[in-house]
Formats: sequence, structure tokens, C-alpha cells
Amino acid sequence: MRIILFSGKGGVGKTTLSAATGYKLSELGYRTLIVSLDPAHSLADAFDLSEGERLSAKGLPVKIKENLYIQEIDVQEEIDRYWGDVYRFLEILFNTTGLDEIVAEELAILPGMEEVTSLLYVNKYYRDRDFDVLILDLPPTGESLRFVSMPTVLKWYMKKVFKTERLVIRVARPVVGRITDVPLPDDTYFKALENFYEKLKGVDEVLTDPETTSVRIVTNPEKMVVRESQRAFMYFNLFGVNVDAVIVNRIIPGELEDCSFLREWSGIQREYLREIEAFFSPVPVLKVPLLKGEVFGEDRLKELASLIYGDRDPSEVFFKEKPYEFVKEEEGYLVKVKAPFVSKETVSLLKGEEEIIVRVGNFKSHILLPRKLRKLEPKGAKIEDGYIKIRLS
Ligand SMILES: Nc1ncnc2c1ncn2[C@@H]1O[C@H](COP(=O)(O)OP(=O)(O)OP(=O)(O)O)[C@@H](O)[C@H]1O
Ligand SMILES: [Mg+2]
Repeated sequence: MRIILFSGKGGVGKTTLSAATGYKLSELGYRTLIVSLDPAHSLADAFDLSEGERLSAKGLPVKIKENLYIQEIDVQEEIDRYWGDVYRFLEILFNTTGLDEIVAEELAILPGMEEVTSLLYVNKYYRDRDFDVLILDLPPTGESLRFVSMPTVLKWYMKKVFKTERLVIRVARPVVGRITDVPLPDDTYFKALENFYEKLKGVDEVLTDPETTSVRIVTNPEKMVVRESQRAFMYFNLFGVNVDAVIVNRIIPGELEDCSFLREWSGIQREYLREIEAFFSPVPVLKVPLLKGEVFGEDRLKELASLIYGDRDPSEVFFKEKPYEFVKEEEGYLVKVKAPFVSKETVSLLKGEEEIIVRVGNFKSHILLPRKLRKLEPKGAKIEDGYIKIRLS
């Protein structure tokens, strides 16, 4: 199974490109599901779904055509439908004051319900195998990053929670009482915990397996957007999620350059295109022109898909590189973490018993060390050639 994530700044074309990609995949015979978390329902709009069709879907997959389904997740709907017990547990976890302190100290970001919902779904579809390709139209960059960082955060969380079980029960009781007005019996609480853990188990491996999961970063050839894409690229690398292409959308077509107004824009775009190619190399950069008018409905999506992919199969893994590796040296090992565009000031490193924790800005990634390396001591680190290099011996 393939999982393709579309990430990028607000409005760059994530939903439209997700829709076009899904359309082409279904034409090639892959059973495809496109999932969106966008409350504005633009995925349904991209396929020209009527309001009635959309509403009757109630957040479940809707068949668009042979092999093609779309699903617009409604978080509230989900809570009512499946995850009541799980969310009750999460609510305890996220709202309990006692835990807040631990969290504030240890975590740079807090999980949100949206990210957790999508992770639960990713794992469900991965296990069920009803689809060949799952496309995720992610929310704008910040939240996308929360999404990919979530598995490591939750793993850490669970470890901590299980360790401090007593504390959780002690603080959770009165809080639950306040939220639900019904005291929660121990059994329900532990069942919820178990259930939740079971449903999420393995999702981190799914997301960090480059044969399964790819991120395609959507960008526009404009200063702000390019900068944000570079940051996103770095973070995806840090979390070990493979970026297999950068898609530059809305490039002004050459034939419009006769217009003096557009000529200037075109020149600016050309400059950013050069910068994008230099920065992301050797990750493939796919270029997509600005189409005449908005892109709605199957015919336009088909046209767009062929402009993005040409004759290529969108389910291919276009590029694959290890986000981190362990290199044997004369004395000890070198841990190389791919982290382009980071500067020394923004990075901090910590070696735990089993892992190295890399914090860049507000994000934190845990790199699990192979058994052999766990006993070694850190002997210095530097940033070089787009890598954070940590010596252990
Ligand atoms: N190559 C293109 N040519 C012309 N119009 C485009 C192109 N790509 C996207 N659009 C149009 O741009 C608008 C925004 O695109 P889209 O909704 O896909 O962006 P998005 O990244 O999903 O936005 P959001 O962050 O708000 O979810 C849509 O109206 C879409 O039809
Ligand atoms: Mg969108």
C-alpha cells in the first residue's frame, strides 16, 4: 500500500493536487481514497460534489467513480461515531493540570484531536487494505508537522503516562468528574487507554517507511511560500518522513509573457524556480502551470494530473534517501541526521538511554539508537553538508 501526503502553506493548491493525483491513480486502476481534514470541504468542491451528496456522506468515504473515493473527516462526527472512549481518555490526558506541567516541560508541541484522528485513520486503512493508495490532503504546514511528529510525541507520552500511572489516576479522577459529571470507573479508563494504544500501534513505522509513505511538498514560486517549504522539508527529514517530490504549482505559462503585467511576475517566478531547484536537489521538482480558471470537476483534474505527472505513475516513489544513518568510524560511530537549512543556534541535542533527541526550534525528534550504540557517549557534534553529525564512542 502507498500513502501519499500533500503538505504546503495555505492556498498553494494541496487539495487540488491531491484530487488530481487521486483521479489519475484511479484511472490507472488503483483503488484510491483521498482523505481531507479541511473543514471548508474543498475536496468535495474539487470533485463538484453537490451539497446534498456531501452532507449525506456524514464524513465517511463517498464513491466518485470506479476506484475513486473521497472522505472529508469531521472530527466531531468521528468522536460521536467511533472514538468516544479514546477521546475521553485523550481529554483527560490533554486537560489534566497535573500532566500539563510535565508536558510543558518535556514537549514543545501538544497533540490535537485533528492530528490524532488522521493518525487513527491512517492506521485503520493501512491495516484494512481496502485501498491501494491513500492520499492525505493535509492542513497547512504547521499542522502537517504536528501530524508527522505526533507518533513520536504520543509514544513518549504513553511511556511517561504508564510510568506515572498513579499520578494520572490521582489527577484524572476529579477532572473527569468535572467534564462528564459522571465518575469514570477504573475499568473504562484503562480499557480506553488500551484501546487507544492498540489503534495507534505501528503508525510511526508506517509513516517513516519510505516504501510506503511519501510527502509531496506543494509550493508556489514566491518568496514566503518557498521559505516555508524549505522549513517544512527540514522538519519532515527530521521526523524521518520521506519527501519524494516538491511540486511547484501555479507557474505562469510562457505564452503569457507578452503581457507586460505578467512579464514581471514571470521573471520573479523564474528566479524562485531556480532557487527551489538548487535547494531541493536531488529531490525531484515537478512544475505545474497556472491553468485558465479554477480547477473543478473531473475533466480539469485529468488535465492537471497529466501536467503534473506526464506519463509517470503517481504511486511511484520518486525519490528515497535515508533521513538518518549510523556510520561506523575508527573510534565509535557517527550518527548523521539529515537536516538541511538548520543553523547551530537553533539545534539542541540530548542523549537519552535509548535515543538521541534532536530539537530544532519548536520541534523535537527522537532517533532510536541501535542496541550497540546505546552505551556509547556523545563526543561532540557539528553541522556540515546539510547534516547534523553526532560522534559517539
Ligand atoms: N495550477 C492551478 N491553476 C489554476 N488554479 C489553481 C491551480 N492550482 C490550484 N488552483 C486553484 O487555487 C485555489 C486554491 O487551491 P486549493 O484549494 O487546492 O489550495 P489548498 O492548498 O488546498 O488551500 P488550503 O490551504 O486553503 O486548504 C482553488 O480555487 C484551485 O482551483
Ligand atoms: Mg485545501
